[in-house]
Amino acid sequence: MYINFWYPVCLSKELEDKPIKQKILGMEFVAFRDQEGHAHCLSNTCVHRGGSLGNGKCIPENNAIACPYHGWQYGGDGKCLTVPSLGPGSKPPARAKVDSYPVSEKYGIVFAFLGDLPENERCDAYEIEEFEADGWRANEVITIDIDYNYERSVENGLDPAHNEFVHPTHGFEAAKNDYKVNPTQITDTAWGANFAQVFDAPPLDADTYGESARKESGNLTVYGGYHGPNTLITQIHTQKETGWFHQYFFEQPIDEFQTRIYFVNMRNWLMDEAMDETIMERNLIIAHQDIDVMKNLRPFVTPASMTKEILLPADAIIGKYRSTLKEFDKKGFKIDVRTLKNQEHHTAYAIPSPARRTEKNWVLDPIPLLTPD
Ligand code: FES
Ligand SMILES: [Fe+2]
Repeated sequence: MYINFWYPVCLSKELEDKPIKQKILGMEFVAFRDQEGHAHCLSNTCVHRGGSLGNGKCIPENNAIACPYHGWQYGGDGKCLTVPSLGPGSKPPARAKVDSYPVSEKYGIVFAFLGDLPENERCDAYEIEEFEADGWRANEVITIDIDYNYERSVENGLDPAHNEFVHPTHGFEAAKNDYKVNPTQITDTAWGANFAQVFDAPPLDADTYGESARKESGNLTVYGGYHGPNTLITQIHTQKETGWFHQYFFEQPIDEFQTRIYFVNMRNWLMDEAMDETIMERNLIIAHQDIDVMKNLRPFVTPASMTKEILLPADAIIGKYRSTLKEFDKKGFKIDVRTLKNQEHHTAYAIPSPARRTEKNWVLDPIPLLTPD
């Protein structure tokens, strides 16, 4: 798991007048919305004596949240505004502040940049270009909870060879004796890679997709890729100009073994609103076909050495993803999960926020990171 990327925190609609406590990357965060409607994401641990801010409440008149233990209030920038025990008009101690993370809210999702990189060095929050474009329709974003590692999940979304075996409506269940995975065209991007892949695909089910759906089996091109460690893109083009599904999976690693996927599904056909439900139902059937296989993979976390699995040409994009992650290791972004686990009952850490680059006086230790080799 890596600091210094954008992670989904919660759905926009979940963030109303109460704070939300969320575990991401094995750490606890609190999100809240101020009176102007701006969302904020802070480290959850109160620096007084360890209260859980997410169990506190919003104080609308101060645009703040209050700790449930002794009522210290913190603003969206993480600075403590009031310490009730000191009496009215008193000044909080200089060290009374928690980390506050940059937030970006779009597609109905609140994202936070969990790290301390200055703005000009950050990976960008992924941009869905067609999100509000004419001729496109978005399903309401949904979340899918899975009991496995987010990197395994991203790899599964990239994997061109599993469709034939895992998804009966996407492949031929190995019944065609000329089955072979076509080469994957891979291109580098700033923080990841894109791919183009041609599949030999069966016809689409006319009951669901209507008369315009492809009636013959034939070539189906899928574009996709990954952006940073936790954003997966799948763009299925069933026909040349329309008949496109663009799917975006923003993965929230809760910890190494649990993930919540924020799923945005776009399409440029079947535009009737009534199709939203049918399409989401189909997607969830497909998702559960994956989940049934994925929850049984071993080891839970991708092995550190490539020699502990066998990667073949059909796994090229998986190898590419793993090599991108190695680049993030070299940047020193990788969390030292073993130390974190060993210390979990003794040390409250925080992921350093950008303010730590310019300000001193932080109470919590920064999360342990692995030093690059
Ligand atoms: S622990 Fe938060 S106010 Fe005391
Ligand atoms: Fe799949």
